[in-house]
Amino acid sequence: MHIDTLSTPCVLVDIDRVKANIGRAQTYANTHGFALRPHIKTHKIPAFARLQVEAGARGITCQKLGEAEVMADAGLDDILISYNLVGIDKLTRLAALARRVRLTVAADSPYTVAGYNDIARAADVSFDVLIECDTGGGRCGVQTPEDALTLAATLGGGARFAGLMTYPAAGKTAEMAAWIDRALAVFSAASVPVGTVSAGGTPDLWRAHTTPGLTEYRPGTYVYMDRSQVAAGAATMADCALTVLATVVSKPRPDRAIIDAGTKSLTSDLLGMEGFGHVPACPQAIVSGLSEEHGILRAEHGLPEIGARLRIVPNHACVVSNMFDHVYLVSGDRVLDCIPVAARGRVS
Ligand SMILES: Cc1ncc(COP(=O)(O)O)c(C=O)c1O
Repeated sequence: MHIDTLSTPCVLVDIDRVKANIGRAQTYANTHGFALRPHIKTHKIPAFARLQVEAGARGITCQKLGEAEVMADAGLDDILISYNLVGIDKLTRLAALARRVRLTVAADSPYTVAGYNDIARAADVSFDVLIECDTGGGRCGVQTPEDALTLAATLGGGARFAGLMTYPAAGKTAEMAAWIDRALAVFSAASVPVGTVSAGGTPDLWRAHTTPGLTEYRPGTYVYMDRSQVAAGAATMADCALTVLATVVSKPRPDRAIIDAGTKSLTSDLLGMEGFGHVPACPQAIVSGLSEEHGILRAEHGLPEIGARLRIVPNHACVVSNMFDHVYLVSGDRVLDCIPVAARGRVS
């Protein structure tokens, strides 16, 4: 089957590029002696998680319990949920999951730790806990290495302290490395072993080896890559595995063409760039605007005619994954399969 037979808009995933991206990152991690724990929020597809583990990944990372439950159902058995799980509903599900897989969760507050300690005791389960550290990313995380040590000391019973976790801001590897270095000194002075030091983020994936003490890295977007990763220098357009296939449905002026992919396909993420995607077949075109179901392509000349079908590299592949029930696996222009995005929409 050729991609021209597919109804648009739809998502194409080039399996050859996926395999190359997985292999390249795993080889890099192996070369530098740290583990990979890929973040599946990018693809949300168990078969791709299995490919990552078969290539050598230690396990997987999920952002949400719902994603982790889908992956556990599919047989993935070593899962980090890189999120503070708060509330009895989540803790009850956490306990159920801890009985099925080797589970690790994140905590950055006494509130979260108390919930983990209580559920481990009440449900008689054990799981690992990483203290999340704000090493410059400005999102979750304890603010100092001393706070990390104090919080780690409050874990007990089945909720076991297993190490440190951080999600640094893109381009801030050096700051993160300095923070981790100080933290390891603080833990060492207190004679508290730190088993895992986990960082993540595709923009700085290829700099991961410059952080002494790092034991694992959690890249997510690397599996597909996207326009933002090309802009960050982490990939080339030739590495981008996920594209949105769209059709030109209107050409009101020579310098404006309208495609059938809007925010519900490409998402409204700009991530600091101009335009909402890259059109390899018409590189001079800018995807200058989107409404829900329309995308506006602008170029002085050479815009495609009505009926033309275009592959668009989105700015942010992970959120595109969350918009579609299925993706088409392709090799070049050949459609190989149609597979469900099983963990799509599992945001709780
Ligand atoms: C905690 C955490 N780890 C890892 C990642 C993976 O980042 P990237 O998709 O840039 O590889 C993310 C992305 O949101 C994240 O939030």
